[in-house]
Amino acid sequence: MERRELGQSGIDVPVVGLGTWQVLDVRGPEEEARHEVVRAALEEGANLFDSSPMYGEAERVLGEALEKYGRARAIVATKVWTSNDVEAEHQIERSLGYFSGRVELYQVHNLVAVEKRLDTLHRLKEEGRVRAVGATHYSRAAFGDLMSVMRSGRVEFVQVPYNAAETAVTGELLPLAQELGIGVISMVPLGSGRLVRNAPPQSELEPLREFGVETWAQALLKFVLSDERVSCAIPATSSPQRMRENARAGEPPPFSDEERRYVAALARKA
Ligand SMILES: NC(=O)c1ccc[n+]([C@@H]2O[C@H](COP(=O)([O-])OP(=O)(O)OC[C@H]3O[C@@H](n4cnc5c(N)ncnc54)[C@H](OP(=O)(O)O)[C@@H]3O)[C@@H](O)[C@H]2O)c1
Repeated sequence: MERRELGQSGIDVPVVGLGTWQVLDVRGPEEEARHEVVRAALEEGANLFDSSPMYGEAERVLGEALEKYGRARAIVATKVWTSNDVEAEHQIERSLGYFSGRVELYQVHNLVAVEKRLDTLHRLKEEGRVRAVGATHYSRAAFGDLMSVMRSGRVEFVQVPYNAAETAVTGELLPLAQELGIGVISMVPLGSGRLVRNAPPQSELEPLREFGVETWAQALLKFVLSDERVSCAIPATSSPQRMRENARAGEPPPFSDEERRYVAALARKA
């Protein structure tokens, strides 16, 4: 698994991690099976895990899986997401409790109360409980606000949507991230599943085989990772086998512009 520095944070991250929205939001008998997804990720070196208090049970389930299979090896990225100051403190205490008292990458979710939340996250960083502070937004309508936060010098990384069918970040946001040395985590790299549901026929993947691509999901992930401004993509999956498949997309060689254009054209039809 290739690794890259998350901007200039000094933190080395895998190019493929695991998103936990929906897939780890389970309770009861399904939990053990989802722990196996986390185990597969750790075994493949895909050791960055993205979560949020907005994702139901996901933080708790992730924390329990890491407790079993290797918290020390994991880079946990979670978020604080509320306009209420008291609730923000509660969210943070709960999250720190799930992850052995520390969160490597702490993000302000959807820029909610961003200035106040950044104050708190920077305090946690000074206390040694957080290694890097970031901000996320899923909507291109908010990229202007997100870029203002980037220019303020208060975030070391951002999390934004980027996939073969959604490339709005390439306009201004990724160039700014590169200029400022800010890391980039790509959310929804498979279009929240929409892009993988209608896979092109296997024969269409032939030109991509020499890049180690065996499946359409890997082609989509390699599209994102071949943009060197991206530090890490975080596909979500409920399957250990797919986790391993996704991790293999993090092996070199990257696509050139030609293969990226080819995958984008296939994605438009997907
Ligand atoms: N900050 C924000 O505002 C925000 C917003 C959205 C997402 N996120 C983060 O980004 C992560 C990823 O986004 P996402 O969960 O929306 O979607 P995604 O990663 O683009 O797609 C996930 C979907 O793809 C399927 N999938 C995964 N690997 C596959 C494979 N190899 N073959 C076929 N299908 C595959 C999964 O189904 P199976 O479970 O059946 O494999 C799941 O339905 C989230 O989990 C979350 O951590 C953040």
